[in-house]
Amino acid sequence: MLDHSLKGKFVIVAGGAKNLGGLISRDLAAQGAAGVLVHYNSAATKAAAEDTVAAVQRAGASAFARQADLTRVSEVADLFAEAKSCFGRIDIAVNTVGMVIKKPILDVREEDYDAIFAINAKAAFFFIQEAGRTLSEGGKICTIVTSLLGAFTGLYSIYAGSKAPVEHFTRAASKEFGPRGISVTAVAPGPMETPFFYGQETPESAAYNQAAADLSRFTATGLTDPADIAPLVRFLVSEGWWVTGQTILANGGYTTK
Ligand SMILES: NC(=O)c1ccc[n+]([C@@H]2O[C@H](COP(=O)([O-])OP(=O)(O)OC[C@H]3O[C@@H](n4cnc5c(N)ncnc54)[C@H](OP(=O)(O)O)[C@@H]3O)[C@@H](O)[C@H]2O)c1
Repeated sequence: MLDHSLKGKFVIVAGGAKNLGGLISRDLAAQGAAGVLVHYNSAATKAAAEDTVAAVQRAGASAFARQADLTRVSEVADLFAEAKSCFGRIDIAVNTVGMVIKKPILDVREEDYDAIFAINAKAAFFFIQEAGRTLSEGGKICTIVTSLLGAFTGLYSIYAGSKAPVEHFTRAASKEFGPRGISVTAVAPGPMETPFFYGQETPESAAYNQAAADLSRFTATGLTDPADIAPLVRFLVSEGWWVTGQTILANGGYTTK
């Protein structure tokens, strides 16, 4: 039988230094993972990656940070190869990498489209592919997408549009990797209390989102709290293995599909 506990498991968290990804790295270590590769991309994130590595180590797991631009397929492969050579094996791969652009369709430039699809769709695909090549039997793969996949709204065409393919990558990968006991899921948070969200919103649109979920008034900010997403990811990459091929919206009642 496969062991679905976190105990003794080795993990890669892409975008694992800060915000949601940083919380997932710390949470998986606190709940028993044996090692976490904390990936980051920008030089500005290096200090956060080092803080997260230190927190993971304090929780009793081994950890190291690695920089990679995951829009380059060779860097995705190098990241997995390094985790495998340091840890001996990889059991869990979580990808939180993302980019948001909010603008009207008529204002979208070719560079916007190429940049956002490279991060949200291409990097996500090749991360799943490399995880499928590398993970041990019984491994778990989870990608973070967005609850806008369930929204009927303008202005997020290339954001939701570039996250949407992940839903199908997740289905296909669950079929193809299932025979090796690997489960593949996607988690779709609502608008989250991180700088990622505020960077694209006006005070008015932020205020709308802070009241838009059924459960908004029971949270500190009205938005999705990353602390309410990390336990769901933890469940899916451990005892929740029977959920596979699915995209789960977690948003306090913001959108549905
Ligand atoms: N905040 C929200 O409102 C919200 C709502 C729903 C879903 N989400 C999704 O949740 C995930 C985490 O978002 P967050 O709010 O926690 O913000 P975040 O910390 O800014 O997460 C985005 C991550 O993507 C990484 N990244 C960007 N370009 C990359 C590249 N070329 N190669 C590798 N990594 C790259 C960033 O790394 P660097 O900073 O080091 O470049 C960062 O770690 C994203 O996938 C986002 O789409 C966010």
